[in-house]
Amino acid sequence: MSNEHAAPSTPWKQLAEHQQTLQDVHIRDLFAQDAQRFSHFSLHACDLLLDYSKHRINGETRDLLVALAKASKLENWRDKLFNGEAINHTENRAALHIALRNRSSQAVHVAGQDVMPGVREVLEKMRGFCERVQSGEWLGFSGKPIENIVNIGIGGSDLGPKMIVEALHNYHHPRLRAWFDSNIDATQLDHILERLDPETTLFIVASKTFSTQETLTNARSARQWLLAHFKDDKAVSKHFVAVSTHTQRVRDFGIDTNNMFAFWDWVGGRYSLWSAIGLSVAVMIGMDNFEALLGGAHDMDEHFRTAPLAENMPVIMGLLGVWYRNFWQASTLAILPYDYSLKYLPFYFQQLEMESNGKRVRRNGEPVKWDTCPVIWGTSGNNGQHAYYQLLHQGTQLIPADFIVAIESQAEDFGHQNAVLANALAQSRALMQGRNEAETRAALGDIDEDLLPHRVFPGNQPSSLLLYKKLSPKILGSLVALYEHKVFVQSVCWDINPFDQWGVELGKQMASELLPALEGKTSNMAYDGSTNGLLDYIQQQRK
Ligand code: F6P
Repeated sequence: MSNEHAAPSTPWKQLAEHQQTLQDVHIRDLFAQDAQRFSHFSLHACDLLLDYSKHRINGETRDLLVALAKASKLENWRDKLFNGEAINHTENRAALHIALRNRSSQAVHVAGQDVMPGVREVLEKMRGFCERVQSGEWLGFSGKPIENIVNIGIGGSDLGPKMIVEALHNYHHPRLRAWFDSNIDATQLDHILERLDPETTLFIVASKTFSTQETLTNARSARQWLLAHFKDDKAVSKHFVAVSTHTQRVRDFGIDTNNMFAFWDWVGGRYSLWSAIGLSVAVMIGMDNFEALLGGAHDMDEHFRTAPLAENMPVIMGLLGVWYRNFWQASTLAILPYDYSLKYLPFYFQQLEMESNGKRVRRNGEPVKWDTCPVIWGTSGNNGQHAYYQLLHQGTQLIPADFIVAIESQAEDFGHQNAVLANALAQSRALMQGRNEAETRAALGDIDEDLLPHRVFPGNQPSSLLLYKKLSPKILGSLVALYEHKVFVQSVCWDINPFDQWGVELGKQMASELLPALEGKTSNMAYDGSTNGLLDYIQQQRK
């Protein structure tokens, strides 16, 4: 796809021309030209350091990208976001996750109404619940304290809580263990339940809509498992709580609505971990730590809202993404945490970025004429080194990467942490610096000329490096909010709505149409030839 912007107005055109001047420039030469490059291209905010000096940019690039943000009316859109305007226009909703973590006394309005009293009320209810579970006051049906929390949810009702619970392992209550069930393939639920005792297990059914097939199917099976043990419906209220925006559906499911934690339609699924969807997090780490997480996100909100664009971390990261996507045709972004506790972060960012910005039409419904969200992928960096880094170092594609690095480990580090840091710094350096022919000859001595090309590293692979002292609820809150706002910045540059997700609907609808055929309730095979053939084969195999 070309990257012709509708108004190939000045900044887009200028950036395209400017890209030509950098096309053949190596990042190592940019370092050679500027001894202060690190300080010119790094930023501090909310206890995070962003080093973005290892990018194919110079001062002019940054100026032009900031001009692009201004021409896209980023400041105006940011005001609309914070003011609770219905910027999710295809669902006629605000996108107010910032209200969930508003730690100030400021009101936040949606359609003229302050939502903060409701937000604080739910936080208080969560606090009461968490204290009762943690203290052992909340008892299961047979009078035993809870030991296992099973969050049943999918997408935003799973990925965020799971990522945070894993990341903050050191903050867990010592008696409690958390489990996450999301997949409709019962293998996952089965593997969880076989390790649990119904008498000490509490299920949190987390679903914004309370109509999601995977979640409701799993919740029903979990209830069946519980009742197979207790043989008394009254056990459900001691072992099931719900988080949802939909009271009636929670009631219909059979969960006591006193055990329901509410949130609102202005909270998008992938932005919901700050709401009661974070209940499993709050139970595991305690409400004070959960509020510290919210506080870290609020600090980043304030930074994003007030910092000048050129010194604004989410803005700079968003613009760098636009730079590579639209002017260098980079089609992916690697997320590489060098902090093992963040091992689920790439999965969380996949939903955040791709469900938000994986769009093909502009706000006004016209097709975009430029590329939008890249594919987001990655794993814990050190493991990746022994799997796919080969392609980053010597493959044929430009692949920007985000290194996310802890200076200190949260756990007992057995003296490993210097090696973690050495690997993170070495990889981002090697990707940038590479090793040319002369350096390879010098390094390897008498090398066979035929082998030389195989041992050369082109380098010039760009990366950002985010560094923090030690992961804490507060830092994690800031880190996640940083990416949320980065995604928003990009949506503004691309003129798309990042808060809807219509693209997930068609597959869901077709699955419910196909289910009767698989259950043998209809023999009407009015699908396409491939689907008919596959259904037929499945039925043959089942006979
Ligand atoms: O199918 C996508 C989606 O709607 C996500 O946006 C959402 O996070 C997920 O499903 C789960 O939805 P719910 O919380 O309503 O069960």
